[in-house]
Amino acid sequence: MSIAKKDYKRITVKSLIEMKANQEKISMLTAYDYTMAKIVDSAGIDVILVGDSASNVMAGHETTLPITLDQMIYHASSVVRAINRALVVVDLPFGSYQSDPKEALRSAIRIMKESGGHAVKLEGGKEIKESVKKILRAGIPVMGHLGLTPQSIYKFGTYTVRAKEEEEAKKLKEDALLLERIGCFAIVLEKVPAKLATEVAESLTIPVIGIGAGHGVDGQVLVTHDMLGMTHEFHPRFLRRYADLYTEMLEAFKQYGNDVKSVDFPNDTEQY
Ligand code: KIV
Repeated sequence: MSIAKKDYKRITVKSLIEMKANQEKISMLTAYDYTMAKIVDSAGIDVILVGDSASNVMAGHETTLPITLDQMIYHASSVVRAINRALVVVDLPFGSYQSDPKEALRSAIRIMKESGGHAVKLEGGKEIKESVKKILRAGIPVMGHLGLTPQSIYKFGTYTVRAKEEEEAKKLKEDALLLERIGCFAIVLEKVPAKLATEVAESLTIPVIGIGAGHGVDGQVLVTHDMLGMTHEFHPRFLRRYADLYTEMLEAFKQYGNDVKSVDFPNDTEQY
């Protein structure tokens, strides 16, 4: 189905706020390298997130905690070189902003200067308020991230749905309002009940981008390797798979291996 929408030549933080005002849903996917980012951008996806999920997807770590600022800058600069239209948002990794606002600003400046990304994303609400304000005062756009915040996995203990209880839902709503008030241009809401996510989206003028947060929000984000079916052991309920690349790639690699062994590859036309 093709969906009528305004033709944005280049997505900015202002375009996203305008999309929300015009009830146009925002599409966002992750990318960590040049080749993938080029395809995602060519498909017209509005926002590319250089997520710290690179720690899991690219490096094979169990959590997002080990990835470093230098590694995030490497991934982000590869993505930025590929894009013509999408807004590139880069995660500040664990340990690069939690200790104090000055360090948070230094980390955000390094991302902007050394990768060419357009905005940063930080996990948390009230507890990181001063850091967010300091980054914003330097003219760097900030996307918030509430709900399941994987950098705090050892505090939560599990990756299950957040804010099912009244008290946590109340804090989440307060944090969302706070992030909007201090100047964030958007918020990611991860793995929270759809009803709560809809309420939050309706209470804000900035876009709320959901992952496992239902369709009542202003846009959706998925990890690209998950939606392509490459990470085939990972199948949470919220994930829709748009391809089964694990199987396709596996078959292609097997075929190649067999062709090499049987001297079917290369043939006479595949040589000089
Ligand atoms: O790092 C990431 O990929 C993310 C998304 C899951 C929102 O933060």
